[in-house]
Amino acid sequence: VGGGLEHFFETRQLTERLCEPLETEDYGLQAMANTSPAKWHLAHTTWFFETFILSPFCPGYRPFHPAFEHLFNSYYNGVGKPYPRDQRGLLSRPGVEEVYRYRAYVDAAMAELLSAPGDGEADIRRRTELGCHHEQQHQELLLTDLKYCWFQNPLYPVYTPLNGDGTGDSGTMDWLPLVAGVRSIGARADEADGQDSFCFDNELPRHRQYIEASELADGLVTNAEFMAFIEDDGYRRPELWLADGWAACEARRGDMDRAAPLYWLRENGQWLEYTLHGLLPLAPHRPVCHVSAYEADAYARWAGCRLPTEFEWEVASAGWGHDAAANGAGQFLGRDQLHPLSAAGSAPADRLLGRAWQWTSSAYAPYPGFRTAAGAIGEYNGKFMANQLVLRGGSCVTSRSHYRDSYRNFFYPPDQWQFTGIRLAREPA
Ligand SMILES: [Fe+2]
Repeated sequence: VGGGLEHFFETRQLTERLCEPLETEDYGLQAMANTSPAKWHLAHTTWFFETFILSPFCPGYRPFHPAFEHLFNSYYNGVGKPYPRDQRGLLSRPGVEEVYRYRAYVDAAMAELLSAPGDGEADIRRRTELGCHHEQQHQELLLTDLKYCWFQNPLYPVYTPLNGDGTGDSGTMDWLPLVAGVRSIGARADEADGQDSFCFDNELPRHRQYIEASELADGLVTNAEFMAFIEDDGYRRPELWLADGWAACEARRGDMDRAAPLYWLRENGQWLEYTLHGLLPLAPHRPVCHVSAYEADAYARWAGCRLPTEFEWEVASAGWGHDAAANGAGQFLGRDQLHPLSAAGSAPADRLLGRAWQWTSSAYAPYPGFRTAAGAIGEYNGKFMANQLVLRGGSCVTSRSHYRDSYRNFFYPPDQWQFTGIRLAREPA
């Protein structure tokens, strides 16, 4: 049950298992402001439980360390001034061992509280569930951030060896028709209130949107298809690009090998791709990933298509979240496959869920009637609703239990370090 002891420990343990392949030195890496050190993720997720549950609901609770409230606050101004984001890599202290002691200390206090919550039980369980979903978001970030940091190292470290190749033919893509009409979008309030179906505030309230008739691809754009865009001078044709994306192309014009998805490298005329399984030959049938929204949009224009809106995406995939939870559809976080696999012959839900987040053309904006929670915890999502785009579908490093039909991820259009891919849409013929 969400917010219970078992859910809490399952989530906490997975974070630590994900760190098992790390050397001590890996825990502190921060290659850019967007990526946080693994050690910081371990501590910040712990801080969340300490700040929003133990301190307010556990009488007499003593924080593990008086300075951690400041050090591991990400962006909650209501909790005080956060430590600068771009300097997290400077925090050599607390050391890794102390951070694990911090986790154990908070876990023990949470176990005590959750076994006898007393007054405020409903709030405690709701916030614990939020804390678990928050930690799942950070599990994904931990892997994507580590990948970016390791990519800076010419040794191209291997997180886990490749198991099987997963590079078979992805089959032919088909189009799924969407009929025009007024449709309901967002999490169902009854589901959100139910014990087992959590959603973030940004998925509410459920409301109506008018959808025009359209067609959505039943699969993701592959590396081979994206390669054809590059070979057709896609990165040199301003007519294909949004202005900000074209400016980024111009800025890196001196280094044409960078005119490609983030982790592609050209060596002796051969394309390679850095993955959490190390540096691999670029596999033509795997979904393309680590593209910015500008690259996704330019590719779509080149292909005579466009990106879907988040509403089209949600309508076209109703029920898939259940399919993922109940029948294992899609490729979500697993121990030995940490790169999108090709998906020949499978059902659309299987081809499109997990694998790579799909950029939509929708601005990350509040749904009509959106409200934030009271207090600092209300800073969770709402204050980021400007200048970002919504992504749908989950990725190969998203936990399966973290995904649902109404899930809205969001990043800035230039961002490439998440597992971000392309799903096409078009008007009906
Ligand atoms: Fe966070």
